[in-house]
Amino acid sequence: MDSILVKGNGPLNGVIPIAGAKNACLTLMPATLLSEEPLTLTNAPRLSDIATMTQLLQSLGAEVASLQDGQVLAMSSHDINNHTADYDIVRKMRASILVLGPMLARDGHAIVSLPGGCAIGARPVDLHLKALEAMGAELDLRDGYVHAKATGGRLKGAVVEFPFVSVGATENALLAATLAKGTTVLKNAAREPEIVDLAQCLRRMGAQIEGEGSNTITIQGVDRLNGATHPVVTDRIELGTYMLLPAICGGEVECLGGRLDLVGAFVERLEEAGVSVVETARGLKVTRKNGRVNAVNVTTEPFPGFPTDLQAQMMALLCTADGVSVLEEKIFENRFMHAPELLRMGAKIDVHGGHATVTGVERLRGARVMATDLRASVSLILAGLAAEGETVVSRVYHLDRGYERVEEKLRGVGAHIERITS
Ligand code: EPZ
Repeated sequence: MDSILVKGNGPLNGVIPIAGAKNACLTLMPATLLSEEPLTLTNAPRLSDIATMTQLLQSLGAEVASLQDGQVLAMSSHDINNHTADYDIVRKMRASILVLGPMLARDGHAIVSLPGGCAIGARPVDLHLKALEAMGAELDLRDGYVHAKATGGRLKGAVVEFPFVSVGATENALLAATLAKGTTVLKNAAREPEIVDLAQCLRRMGAQIEGEGSNTITIQGVDRLNGATHPVVTDRIELGTYMLLPAICGGEVECLGGRLDLVGAFVERLEEAGVSVVETARGLKVTRKNGRVNAVNVTTEPFPGFPTDLQAQMMALLCTADGVSVLEEKIFENRFMHAPELLRMGAKIDVHGGHATVTGVERLRGARVMATDLRASVSLILAGLAAEGETVVSRVYHLDRGYERVEEKLRGVGAHIERITS
């Protein structure tokens, strides 16, 4: 297992290109199953999760070609000859459940392994299943798999009201509804930019969708969808992560492709902390001129609130802030696993249930730490870049799921970082 070594080395300055969004690409790729014509995604990120989704789609019979060094995914699902998403692939990545809705919508049947939990929580998929049942799917859970078939061979439109916001359940239902017979209304739908991006791609394929980005999405089912070419939206979580580099180390970094509308609530907290964010012709420029940032309080919420996927990274910053900050994690039940690792670096954090109270310190100290999940891994790198001395982050396979070419991008702004291959 690889590790990454970083050295605390003062202000970072320069330019970082932001990739296409992992969490958009992972829901756009299953859309290929909805059409027999080619679907091509551009601006795709080069990540291990994308490789896993590629492997899954290919196991179903789809053709997926990774072109231009992985930035273009040329897909075709003309011949789907297997409708079983196997546990060995699904257990590696929860987003695999997103092939269920499209397979049901296209061919009326599917067998998909239940994803199982993950480090940050149980993460059930009951909302996905309830939405598909409302659309006429008959589901039989056995042997760890969902055996699904559409009554009468085709899903039908339905009104689906989610009891609470779920990104994945909204995506599964949206994908399925495009080919259902009749009208589907998704109420209390997720509003994340990745949902908007998916709707825009599906509309390019001929789907009839209204309301994406609001909490009510209406879909008029059609009989077939065409192919399309669609650019993956900028990754707002990679963007927010790299905007924190000058905040925690000092300096000035311009994130190419960054857009304020993708990170509104996050930027509000950054500015409250004393960091300057300016929109440029190429993206977002972030500067921290004076010393330590101010302490701020953070509560994670569904979009457009503060994203849970930036909570760990923000905690790393607040470990160095001047004052006491409180972070409230309201989306996942176990998403403070980076805290014990930050404590090893001299941070002062008290975790009680969904609240973490962080008392900022002048300087963190480098240490050997362990990545526990994707966003925790990058929070430890942020902390290491600001710490005194050297930090070695182990189990960086977590990092490679969501951050492409991380050493190259960080070296580009002056970071001392290297990968240790064991
Ligand atoms: C997506 O996960 C993202 N993953 C997550 O990013 C992100 O943290 C999350 O949305 C919230 O924004 C992808 O898009 C691939 P949810 P998802 O359904 O869809 C519970 C990352 O780091 N829930 O919005 O799984 C669930 O347990 C990852 O890139 C149910 O109880 O999230 C959670 O507590 C981590 N039943 C809450 O709802 C369900 O059927 C929100 O989950 C579905 C979800």
